[in-house]
Amino acid sequence: MQDKKNKFYVTTPIYYATARPHLGSLYSTLLADVSARWNKQKGKKVFFLTGTDEHGQKIDQAAQKAQMEPKPFVDSFIEAYKFIWKSYHIDYDYFIRTTDQTHVKTVQAWLEMLMQKGDIYKSVYEGWYCTPDEAFLTEKEAAGFTDKSPICPTCNRPTNFISEETYFFKLSAYQDKLLEFFENNPNFVVPKERLNEVIKFVQSGLKDLSISRTTVKWGIPFPGDSRHVAYVWADALLNYISAIGYLDKARQQEFDFYWPADVQVMGKDILRFHAVYWPAFLMASGLKLPKQLLVHGWIKVNQQKMSKSFGNVIDPQVLSDNYGADAVRYYLLSQLAITQDAEFSTQALEQCIESELANDLGNLVNRVIVLALKNDLKIVPKINILSEESKSLFQAYQKMLVEFSQDMDRYHFHLAIPALWRFIAQVNAYFHAHEPWKLAKTDNKKFVEVINITCQSLRLIGNLLWSIMPKKSEELLNHLGLKVDLKINIELLKPDFELTFNLYQGENLFAKIEKLEQKATIPVESVIDEQKPIDITDFAKVQLVVGTIEQCEEISQSDKLYKLQVDFGIKGKRQILSGIKKFFKINDLINKQAVFVFNLAPRKMMGLESQGMLLTAVDEQNNLQLIAPAKFVPNGTMLK
Ligand code: MSP
Repeated sequence: MQDKKNKFYVTTPIYYATARPHLGSLYSTLLADVSARWNKQKGKKVFFLTGTDEHGQKIDQAAQKAQMEPKPFVDSFIEAYKFIWKSYHIDYDYFIRTTDQTHVKTVQAWLEMLMQKGDIYKSVYEGWYCTPDEAFLTEKEAAGFTDKSPICPTCNRPTNFISEETYFFKLSAYQDKLLEFFENNPNFVVPKERLNEVIKFVQSGLKDLSISRTTVKWGIPFPGDSRHVAYVWADALLNYISAIGYLDKARQQEFDFYWPADVQVMGKDILRFHAVYWPAFLMASGLKLPKQLLVHGWIKVNQQKMSKSFGNVIDPQVLSDNYGADAVRYYLLSQLAITQDAEFSTQALEQCIESELANDLGNLVNRVIVLALKNDLKIVPKINILSEESKSLFQAYQKMLVEFSQDMDRYHFHLAIPALWRFIAQVNAYFHAHEPWKLAKTDNKKFVEVINITCQSLRLIGNLLWSIMPKKSEELLNHLGLKVDLKINIELLKPDFELTFNLYQGENLFAKIEKLEQKATIPVESVIDEQKPIDITDFAKVQLVVGTIEQCEEISQSDKLYKLQVDFGIKGKRQILSGIKKFFKINDLINKQAVFVFNLAPRKMMGLESQGMLLTAVDEQNNLQLIAPAKFVPNGTMLK
């Protein structure tokens, strides 16, 4: 195996397989993908792990609600994960599922090993349990609720009292070792401040941890005692080592090479499990601890954590369909500081695309190429002498590269990106200050120099963008006749004056965005929030009406929208715009009945008014299907 110093092992949390991924799940995964790509560009041998968490009471209950067996239930979400990760260019190396037999065997072998060692023992457990979070409340958290079930401090939902025989992990034995580890490794958690919460928690006293259940059936059977199944976290956390061959003799070398992980990404809600239980499990197993935990805040919608159980989740697929995956990547990475919670806003996303992506970057690329080609400069030749302004532009670049690299290395992408954008502003200023459109007529040598220097700068920008917007980075370099070159160590990337650029115009990097109204276009997954059912009067507010699509036309400059003419019988005819072009041919729609939201306020898209909204459903292949009555009904019929 190769030099261990030169490897980079990054993991995401494994996602509960109870729904399709939402924007919060994408965010954790994206942070891992950017770290993986950045380290690839630094020449490291990268292993990037993601996957799904598929056992436990929470999953079992969700499956029952869906009237399915747990395994087919979890199976039904896997394709959606893989599809969405692919559409966001998430380049993982392995997708682990905790129902994989290799994982199950590893967990069982590990439990057996710790039982033999005496770190796991059997006794009786009593306490308050939060099923949505799969966690027991501490005594302190449960104190003070004398006349009702304690409320979970993480999700604010009631807990249940559990009293049962259980296997315990001797967590208490690791209290001092953990505190000593935190003291010696103050950078264990990024951002640093979050380690304080963990230290306080450990200092308040660690009790032994219940790691099995007899009341839950959907889980990994305990070795030698199949009445018990492993507690979800004792099962789930092990994924990080089972995936790379832990306890598998045939894969020993691979395991020794990759472990410990270089960074493990997670949201702040699951830090305690990763900074306390996980290190203790590893200490008990005689394994090294991960080098760093990267902990991000929550994406919020209406001031509340975006979560399936709160029914306010945003579908990343709808966002990528509307805005392009790389633009969404850019928004999440540049606008959301990993150190804080942040409110998601389509307005901010659109603003970002228009000003930073289309104006600052896209226009620059477009202008230089159009101008060069107009003046017959398809191949931009080498230049021999650099003017003072060109030299100072590259000095600014060198300074920016140091800053950019430092922020990328400490996963502060929200700071690295603005540093790069400050350089883009300098390149824009350089280009405009020289007025190359005038030089083309007066001073060809200078004209070629300005085009060359701008192309050199765009090459640097394109390479630095690869971890953030991989597809756009490739497109940008393609415009210059280049490819992403992973052989160049990104930290040493500098202008290459031996290069010539073979310009290619192609399409603009960032197309004009089609502004879409948040509520209408980003479906909040229709998960019923048991705590807040809607009233019949809420439902009555929405008029759902059947109509026949009489005409369907393309809209120039839009690759998403169709303009429909819909007949609603005695209610009249309406023009309705719908972003379904990718999914239907015009002839598939003509003369078809469908259901429309009839009383949505009219809104403009691409300069045209839309007077309602077509309803569709996503099928298993992620295609859209029309919703229509089973038999013909008169147009204008209202659904009740
Ligand atoms: N299955 C556990 C993790 C086990 S890891 C051994 C779990 N799953 S989860 O699906 O609920 O959450 C997975 C990740 O998504 C966490 O990092 C969580 O913080 C992140 N997000 C879920 N909702 C989020 C937001 N609204 N905002 C940002 N990230 C959030 O926990």
